Formats: sequence, structure tokens, C-alpha cells
Amino acid sequence: MNSHPFPLAVECCDASVSYNGKPVLEKISVGIPEKNVTGVIGPSGSGKSTLLRTFCRMNDRVPGFWVQGQVRVGGDEIYADDVDVYQLRRKVGMVFQTPCVFPTSIFENAIFGLKRLFPHLKKEFSTKGEQALREAGLWEEVKDRLHKPAVTLSLGQQQRLAIARSLAIDPEILLMDEPTSALDPKSSQAVEELILALKTRHTIVLVTHNLAQARRVADRLIFLREGKIWEAGTTEELFNSPAMPETRAYLAGHGDFA
Ligand SMILES: Nc1ncnc2c1ncn2[C@@H]1O[C@H](COP(=O)(O)OP(=O)(O)O)[C@@H](O)[C@H]1O
Ligand SMILES: [Mg+2]
Repeated sequence: MNSHPFPLAVECCDASVSYNGKPVLEKISVGIPEKNVTGVIGPSGSGKSTLLRTFCRMNDRVPGFWVQGQVRVGGDEIYADDVDVYQLRRKVGMVFQTPCVFPTSIFENAIFGLKRLFPHLKKEFSTKGEQALREAGLWEEVKDRLHKPAVTLSLGQQQRLAIARSLAIDPEILLMDEPTSALDPKSSQAVEELILALKTRHTIVLVTHNLAQARRVADRLIFLREGKIWEAGTTEELFNSPAMPETRAYLAGHGDFA
């Protein structure tokens, strides 16, 4: 099935998704290469978040959610009957638009998922927590107040804490749904730099409305429109020589009118 010259972290073949019978994604076929940043762009309502959530079974509990076709992570079909969703969570982490921090300390936030998914690693929580905070570029800022409530951090720091929490599990794939759209420019830049640093070890799928950001950090782009992959290719291909007029219009900044 993999006709690409590079290994794929996620592979969809004719995947369709609907909510309460309303089609949202139609026959999506795409490969997400390993250790790359794949940007997902497209007008509001085109299905970007749904696509990301479909990659990690985050929609399972949404009433009326229905998926057909194949979605593979690391070569394994994730919607097969015998799949353990907790095992999948070890491989695929997700970061949301609004930083998701729990009403507990900075450090407890960093090890939140680790504690639940790997309780037997208790002795390593402290080192793994520090490692994740370092990898998220937050350690120097929080090392003297690890036991203070996480809500005392700035929004930009909270987003990096949410990223650290995902990293503590050492996922192969990190899905990020507009991770900088609630942040100020300086914090956004910190997160962008982090994404570039992380791709040496992780596969990143980044939904973004910010086309300049897509151009700066994505290696490849998927342009979603009306629930379909309208066009996909390298960032350079889409920006410099898009095949479809709608892609050209969207990238020219006509955004949601494309
Ligand atoms: N939980 C849900 N229940 C019903 N419809 C939904 C749900 N989530 C999204 N949708 C619908 O699916 C479509 C795609 O939404 P979404 O994936 O959030 O798009 P995007 O992230 O590109 O803005 C929209 O029409 C939206 O209303
Ligand atoms: Mg969305």
C-alpha cells in the first residue's frame, strides 16, 4: 500500500467520516511521512480537526461518529476491533488550540499521562518529567517552581507544558490542532521553534490557519476543502506551483472564501 519513497507514520486509504449521517471527510487517502512536519490547512469547517482526531481515535465517544476505510498508524489498522486505544495513546499524542492544563502542579501536569499509561515506571517519573520539560523548552523557566499550580503559568508556558505532557510519553506522533492560535507572537515563535526541534525525533501533524507559519515549519502540506484532500504535496510545491485554482486562491490569502 505504501507507494511513497519514505516510511509513513500514518496512512489513510479511502477513509470517510460522518457525524450523525452527515459526511465530513470523504475518501481521504494520504500518507504522513515519519519525522516530518505535515501541515493541514484549509477553510474553517473543511474537516481539519476531524482528520487529526481520526488519526488517534479521539472521536470514538462523539455521538453519531462513524468512520469507514483504513487508517493505519505505524502500519497497524487503528479501527480494528481488537485495538487497545490506550496503546494507541502511547504512540500518538495530541495538543489542542487552548492549552489544556489540569488544576494541579506544573510537575504533576508534566507527568499526568505518564502516570496513567506507565504506572510501573514510578521511579522514573522525576527524570522523565524533567526530560519532557527540557524537551518542551520549559525547564529553565519552571525548575524553581515545579510544585506551584500550573494555572499560574502564562498561556504560552501552559501550551509548552501541554506539549511536555505529551512528550513525557515519548509518542512517535504528535498531532497539534492550531497550537499557537491562542498565543501571543513571542510564545507562538517559541512553539514554532519547538516544532522544528521535535521533528528530528517525532512525526508532527500541524493544523494551522496561519499560512506564514505553515510555510515556515511544514515540510509537506495537505489542503483540505469541503471534506476532501483538494491537494497535497511539499510546502514548496503548494506555495510555488499549486495544481488547483482553489489552492492558489486559499494560499493567496483569500482564506475561507477559497
Ligand atoms: N462533534 C461533532 N458533531 C457533529 N458535527 C461536527 C462535530 N465536530 C465537527 N463537526 C462538523 O464537521 C465539519 C468539520 O469540522 P472540523 O473538523 O472541526 O473542521 P475544521 O477544523 O476544518 O474547522 C463541520 O461541518 C462541523 O460542524
Ligand atoms: Mg478545527
